[in-house]
Amino acid sequence: MSPIRHVLSVQQFNGPQIDRLFARVREMRGIVRRGQCSILQNRIMASLFYEPSTRTRFSFEAAMLRLGGQVVGTENAAAFSSATKGETLEDTVRIIGGYSDVIVLRHPERGAAQRAAAVSRVPIINAGDGDGEHPTQALLDLYTIQESFPSGVLPHVVFVGDIKYGRTVHSLIRLLITQKNRMSFVSPEPLRLPDALRAELTQARITFDEYTNLRDVIQHADVLYMTRVQKERMADTSGVVLDGSDYSLTQELVERLDIAAVVMHPLPRNAEIPTWFDKDSRASYFRQAQNGLYVRMALLEKLLNPFLG
Ligand code: NCD
Repeated sequence: MSPIRHVLSVQQFNGPQIDRLFARVREMRGIVRRGQCSILQNRIMASLFYEPSTRTRFSFEAAMLRLGGQVVGTENAAAFSSATKGETLEDTVRIIGGYSDVIVLRHPERGAAQRAAAVSRVPIINAGDGDGEHPTQALLDLYTIQESFPSGVLPHVVFVGDIKYGRTVHSLIRLLITQKNRMSFVSPEPLRLPDALRAELTQARITFDEYTNLRDVIQHADVLYMTRVQKERMADTSGVVLDGSDYSLTQELVERLDIAAVVMHPLPRNAEIPTWFDKDSRASYFRQAQNGLYVRMALLEKLLNPFLG
């Protein structure tokens, strides 16, 4: 497989590439601790975010700075770039590629990162394209899962909440298909697994089940991947509520959860995980978010260093 030039979808990564990436991710923690790193000295990352972001943008920018590189950008490209003057994404990307060495792009439209990559002279990293994909989130999710189950036993991953519009869910499902994990999906009817992904799971002969109530499967979960409703992707959200014990952790549900299970969430959370759960040893979402820094450091290094495989 040729070296990765853009990061658009998790489907570009094969098993050995992921293993090599994760080996480097493990070293990044030490690089941050030691400080004073010049691996990406004189390199510039542009962050081009047309949608709100906390973890993704901050961790990408911190990753670049931790590696000795520099960052240009705006936290709200929709309001503060020439998009307000009618400039197309393609033109903006052509221009910014002349000022920087890599562009991290978040955009509300599915396929936006592909469109950007088609005209870009520098690598594009998809930091979320509408309800499409969020590949770097899925990589940090998989890293966190592997870190939690080092024995190599494949955990049963139970996705809860908005399976239809959640791009982190879509990317992680595709990554877990390559790993052959068993998966389950818990959602209200309007937010069920999209048909395209159901077909991909079936074609890959992955064992999966769908539920409308978390109570029916929580005791069998090794990983509970909770999500919020992606209200910004729906025209009418009136019929869709995830509060309540069907899709949120309650004291009673937590008691049924295996003591060795891990609870993950891409964040931000709404009511799915109450704050009293944060001190439970199974709460893994803050460690997961922290891993985002190390995974993005390894990805930036890989994209900007042509000598890495
Ligand atoms: C997610 C996203 O933007 O898709 N957030 C993130 O990057 N960690 C999830 C979400 O917004 O619900």
